[in-house]
Amino acid sequence: MDITASTPSTGTSNTQLQEIVQETYEKFKNVDDGQVATYIPELGKANPDHFGICLATVDGKIFCAGDWEQEFTIQSICKPFAFQMALEEHGRERTLKHVGVEPSGDAFNAIELDPQTMRPFNPMINAGAIAVSSMIKKSSREQGVEAFLSTMEKAAGRRLQIDHAVYASESSTGNRNRAIAYLMLNCGIIDTAVDHSLHQYFSQCSMLVNTKDLAMMAATLANIGSNPVTGDAVFDFQYIRDVLTVMFTCGLYDYAGEWAYHVGLPAKSGVGGGIIAVVNRQVGLAVYSPKLDAKGNSVRGILACKELALHLGLHAFEFTNTGSNFMKWLL
Ligand code: DON
Repeated sequence: MDITASTPSTGTSNTQLQEIVQETYEKFKNVDDGQVATYIPELGKANPDHFGICLATVDGKIFCAGDWEQEFTIQSICKPFAFQMALEEHGRERTLKHVGVEPSGDAFNAIELDPQTMRPFNPMINAGAIAVSSMIKKSSREQGVEAFLSTMEKAAGRRLQIDHAVYASESSTGNRNRAIAYLMLNCGIIDTAVDHSLHQYFSQCSMLVNTKDLAMMAATLANIGSNPVTGDAVFDFQYIRDVLTVMFTCGLYDYAGEWAYHVGLPAKSGVGGGIIAVVNRQVGLAVYSPKLDAKGNSVRGILACKELALHLGLHAFEFTNTGSNFMKWLL
């Protein structure tokens, strides 16, 4: 694995695209709405002014603006990648015994299971993600976290680490997630190693990334599993369809329908302030801004994604999007 980070593209042939990313940053940089998450106390220390945008294409070009180098914790954006790992390790049939693929329409931290199936509704909400973490944990806690980290390092193209202060803060206040986990133990969705599964989940959420890392991870999904810069085969392509589908229908929780309507891309948000979106076979997009709306999604993240989707014609059902729409910006 080549873990050397590539420098964002500044080549003249891509000036127009760099300008669009920069203009989007300028347009929203003074938006001050929302609140930084404080229910995990350590997240409350984030600088509310930070705002970064990064776009990475499947042919390895990278366009960034603002505070794209600023690190923050990935939080719920770990969920689609953990789901991918569960599918790869256990296959579709076994994984779907532990988690469904149905939007819940409820908050990400709802203490509930699907009353029809008694499974978590989907892997993008906390219940489903904890079930998935339970499936991908290893016999030792360290090995499970290391396996997740090393997969994500390949997708980002550089070394990553856990923010231990955020982990401790999340673990010491995570009683709602404990309640969800014990509900799932009671219903036979997870095994008795509840603390071990929660350790895996809290650790995944506490992984530090910057906006460019997230764009590379999204671009790796867009590029059917291979990191577009390093060429590393990171994800088994046969399951990317599954992951992008639940990102499309469930990635923004109880905002998922509005998001699909306005942006039209598989995506995932996190309470750290990140959002990723995937333009299949074309581009990975990431935005970071820690002030969140009432549903736990980054305010400027949503604005920037809407703007870029509209400007670049990225919506999946945009009539001008013929499958390689984005690439015209690179010519
Ligand atoms: O379980 C939690 O509460 C956090 N570790 C992750 C939640 C999250 O990021 C929800 N996203 N919007």
